[in-house]
Amino acid sequence: HGTSRVNEQGHLEIGGCDTTSLAATYGTPLYVYDEAHIRTKCRSFVEAFRQTGFSFQVAYASKAFCTMAMCKLVEEEGLSLDVVSGGELYTALQAGFPAERIHFHGNNKSIDEIKMALDAKIGCFVVDNFYELHVLADLAEERGEKIAVLLRVTPGVEAHTHEYISTGQIDSKFGFDVQNGQALEAIRYAHESNHLHLLGVHSHIGSQIFETDGFLVAVRRLTELLGEAKEQYGFLPEVLNVGGGFGIRYVEGDTPQPAETYIKAITDVVREELTARAIPLPELWIEPGRSIVGDAGTTLYRIGSQKEIPNVRKYVAVDGGMTDNLRPALYNAQYEAAIANKMNQPASEVVSIAGKCCESGDMLIWDVKLPPAVAGDILAVTSTGAYGYSMSNNYNRIARPAVVFVKDGEAELVVKRETYADVVGHDLLPKRAQLQR
Ligand code: LLP
Repeated sequence: HGTSRVNEQGHLEIGGCDTTSLAATYGTPLYVYDEAHIRTKCRSFVEAFRQTGFSFQVAYASKAFCTMAMCKLVEEEGLSLDVVSGGELYTALQAGFPAERIHFHGNNKSIDEIKMALDAKIGCFVVDNFYELHVLADLAEERGEKIAVLLRVTPGVEAHTHEYISTGQIDSKFGFDVQNGQALEAIRYAHESNHLHLLGVHSHIGSQIFETDGFLVAVRRLTELLGEAKEQYGFLPEVLNVGGGFGIRYVEGDTPQPAETYIKAITDVVREELTARAIPLPELWIEPGRSIVGDAGTTLYRIGSQKEIPNVRKYVAVDGGMTDNLRPALYNAQYEAAIANKMNQPASEVVSIAGKCCESGDMLIWDVKLPPAVAGDILAVTSTGAYGYSMSNNYNRIARPAVVFVKDGEAELVVKRETYADVVGHDLLPKRAQLQR
């Protein structure tokens, strides 16, 4: 996918760059992002909306991969940005991202984070609960401002990959429940507040979703809610936000839909349901994260030791693992891999890829077919662009890898590799220990 191909040397090339040269130049592990492919993904959502006639905003959910370079790229593509913390907000602002296109999410934003966002004059807050609603109303009054808000509601739909469950009273830490009247009460409060500007409602039903039916059930519940809000309080939404969650292909058998399939299905049902309730069509917002960056990222590792247990399994170890990709250990997530310097050799062996952390669960891939590997070979694990770098950590005091963007045969370092000095950079030796010496 993207701009990947096998070059004349039989090496994996991404964005016109030989991955073995990238590994030599920047070291391993290395996150490599195919810039053209990220842009194509951004444009596919925008294009899909253009065909529907809806006004829209596509907000990239930065939690999937948040760096200054990524925020800049998203800005250039004209998307909005979903942030969920002061750190993501800071990253976006440092990259020069226009504040009015930033939406702030989260179920427990701190007062400091809220003030930081207000000072920056972000576009809107996606309010999760009554506590936050009251805090915002008080701050708005204090500052003599009106704060734009969306209300995150829990429609009682949970979607996981290819199924959705309609759960009635859903047990979730997020959002105002639709079923028990909390959502309607929140709409009343925000709509009647002199300090809040209620834009509309938001829902997010899950991640890595392949089918459209979960979204459609959620939209029907949201539009029912909006119908009640119109009848009872005369509230008409300016915005309807249906969240993110659009799936990508990690391994064979994953069957995501193209962007236009999701967008067409969602816009059709929104139009139908709102028209039936005589509610003017609002702007439609979405928040894709994984589907923008997931399959644009590849991680390069250097292969080191191997362990063979005859008739059982062969372990091939790489110089990274759960520190740069927590998803296999945390979710049993599946990935595919290839040996970047042996792309034309037959995948004749089934091996399992182990990380280097002191933990048996630090396995990146169980049972993958590869050509026979030797120490020094470069292993490329594909589709690691979402929730890889963003969930990376320093377990075992391992330094975080570097990130490069590649395009048209050029590579650009966008995150420097951490050094050991970085790893101990916030440590302090206790004064007491010095006195006792
Ligand atoms: N909007 C909201 C409110 C969200 O909570 C999320 C993801 C998104 C948008 C973006 O969802 P996406 O399009 O990326 O599926 N760490 C997990 C995924 C956690 C998703 C959390 N929320 C993983 O690695 O699979």
